[in-house]
Amino acid sequence: MSNNDFAPEFDGSAVVFCDKVNHWFGEGENRKQVLFDVRLRVWPGELAIMTGPSGSGKTTLLTLIGGLRSIQEGRLNVLGQNLNGLSRTQLGKVRRGIGFIFQAHNLFDSLTALQNTCLPLELLGIPKKEQIRRATEMLERLDMGHRLNYKPESLSGGQRQRVAIARALVGRPRLILADEPTAALDKERSRDVVDLFQELSKRDGCAVVLVTHDSRILDVASRIVNMVDGRIATNIDVEDSMVTCEFLSKVDVLSKLPPATLAEISQHMVEERFPAGSWIIRQGNEGDKLYLLRHGRAEVIKEDFGRQELLRYIEPGDVFGEISLLTDRPRTASVRAMEDVQCMSLSKVDFDKAMDTSQGFKDRLLQVFFSRRFADLPNAGVPK
Ligand SMILES: Nc1ncnc2c1ncn2[C@@H]1O[C@H](COP(=O)(O)OP(=O)(O)OP(=O)(O)O)[C@@H](O)[C@H]1O
Ligand SMILES: [Mg+2]
Repeated sequence: MSNNDFAPEFDGSAVVFCDKVNHWFGEGENRKQVLFDVRLRVWPGELAIMTGPSGSGKTTLLTLIGGLRSIQEGRLNVLGQNLNGLSRTQLGKVRRGIGFIFQAHNLFDSLTALQNTCLPLELLGIPKKEQIRRATEMLERLDMGHRLNYKPESLSGGQRQRVAIARALVGRPRLILADEPTAALDKERSRDVVDLFQELSKRDGCAVVLVTHDSRILDVASRIVNMVDGRIATNIDVEDSMVTCEFLSKVDVLSKLPPATLAEISQHMVEERFPAGSWIIRQGNEGDKLYLLRHGRAEVIKEDFGRQELLRYIEPGDVFGEISLLTDRPRTASVRAMEDVQCMSLSKVDFDKAMDTSQGFKDRLLQVFFSRRFADLPNAGVPK
């Protein structure tokens, strides 16, 4: 199921649950909508990377999720709390469970790196000795062990940023919200920081939402969310999408498509199961979907005045049902599951979108269409 299809009910398991969130800035004539119908779920252990052009609403969304701004319209649950209509004090409580790394570091100038990092632990009521042990460990992890007793004014921009990161992570929050956390860091240090995020999400099951323009760190993402003009344009579950993409790339018709198009297609594919003996496609019906067979075997049958003729078999990795979508004509044959079958299906609407974005996709499907017309002659293609 794609992330955009979920039911609006919140079942308590997502760390972030946004539903139909709209947001405006300004008053009267200057009132301008900056977020439109935003839906997003982030699960424990997920590292969601948010990308998108400047001004697309990433920071606004992050500040709403973090309870730093009041929600105007839509539904927002964070760490199991419904943020709608919470008082300032209640919002403050939710915020304490979140590790924030924002563009302005907000370090206390009068405190050292170590003291700044101890602050969240102090708020959690952790004994002083333990505070120092954990804060030192976290700063050392970020290669700041040699600057424990420096105040922000004597640190470089990148070092200040690392203190801010240490401070956000030291309390082991269940949710980390990071806005461009690697902006002031060089390549190696950026890598250390994102590796640390990945470790925390994998080891501690914390959820991370990270805004970045840095495409070099996309590889750690388990979810990639792209925002454009205040809307979530794409929302890809990386692992899910990789499995389907790998499968799609082995399919002859699709193998030449660029990975981005495959990822786009795979995002819209839905799993469907058919028990042995059931019909997947019925001759004469409207062609509303294309299928990719993942498991099991199916047979293509031509039905003619009650007589059934076997045309060919469909094996795992085969695409079928695309002809009606290409020609806009009813199904020319039926397809029946010979055993329990698992398919991934793509709706006509999404199929047409993929065709619009990739001329190559259309060409290759047309090629297959013509080669198959010959294969569909009686008995051709049926193993003896
Ligand atoms: N406090 C504010 N008052 C009025 N408009 C605002 C305010 N904050 C942001 N905006 C506007 O809202 C839109 C979204 O801004 P936002 O900061 O969320 O974008 P962004 O995706 O984080 O951009 P960037 O990549 O540059 O950080 C922009 O058009 C911006 O001008
Ligand atoms: Mg921003």
